[in-house]
Amino acid sequence: MPSPAARPRRLRRTARLRDWVAETDLDARHLVLPVLVRAGDGRPTPVPSLPGVARWPVGALPELARALHAAGVPAVLLFGQAERKDGEGREAWSPRSAVAQAVGALKSADPELIVVTDVCLCAYTDHGHCGVVRNGAVDNDATVERLARTAVAHARAGADLVAPSAMMDGQVAGLRASLDTAGFPDRGILSYATKHASAFYGPFREAEGSRPSFGDRTTYQMDPRNAREALRELRQDVAEGADIVMVKPALTSLDLLARARRRIDVPLAAYQVSGEYAMLKSGARSGAFSEREAVLETLTAIRRAGADLIVSYYAQDVAAWLRRAP
Ligand code: PBG
Repeated sequence: MPSPAARPRRLRRTARLRDWVAETDLDARHLVLPVLVRAGDGRPTPVPSLPGVARWPVGALPELARALHAAGVPAVLLFGQAERKDGEGREAWSPRSAVAQAVGALKSADPELIVVTDVCLCAYTDHGHCGVVRNGAVDNDATVERLARTAVAHARAGADLVAPSAMMDGQVAGLRASLDTAGFPDRGILSYATKHASAFYGPFREAEGSRPSFGDRTTYQMDPRNAREALRELRQDVAEGADIVMVKPALTSLDLLARARRRIDVPLAAYQVSGEYAMLKSGARSGAFSEREAVLETLTAIRRAGADLIVSYYAQDVAAWLRRAP
């Protein structure tokens, strides 16, 4: 039997060798923790659709800021809960919204924590759509105007970046212009550039009460069948001024990450969404796999595909797992 010239197993022989030649790093610095917030004080309360995830009252957020600092997780992505929903989603741009208050609380606890806010209307509209409905359809430009007001309110509260997720055309340009005019040219935009109309947002919508009361989101969120269109969305958002572009869900967009990595030079983010989290959680709980191994494997694959940053409900667990040797 001739000896094969290439024996890849030579570099797999010991852990030190494997680490030495590993191509992909996963580090706490790559992570962003999504945080659901509400107004008020008290203890964080469990979110039933997302076991292990809590909704944080503004008063308790300094504690979270300290925990993230200790864990080395540099950033959060904030989602609010409306006290009062209406047809326009007015509470979204209120200076007293839970998100605005949360930004202030986090920034006073740790001014260096990177605070990103989700900018959308779906948690604030009584019909659950991501925008303003006119004649039975989501009105693009009327929505962009309201998203821009929301972004300015978040910037005024101290957000470092705003993250428009409504999938309206021109939303990045609209936000950029409004932020600049309002005196916030230094605040960034993390754009949800290719966000699929996906089944995997289920647990999040349950938590936010943002399931649309009629129709679905397919007239604005992306058709998962299209990769060229996704690349166009990504390029378009960069052209409109996005500082970071994001794909979502993460695990169903690995090909998009890999293709975007070669074409786009701004940082790329991927969002491991609520349904991906729930899938991993229930698989682990049923004994199908080790939670730690499965989660680290998915996040490593997302990094390998080309993501610089990963938004994950597992961010704190991952930071803790990475600190301990395997
Ligand atoms: C708001 C928004 C959603 C998510 C992030 N921003 C929900 C949706 O589009 O229905 C999903 C987050 C998750 O599932 O973890 N538009």
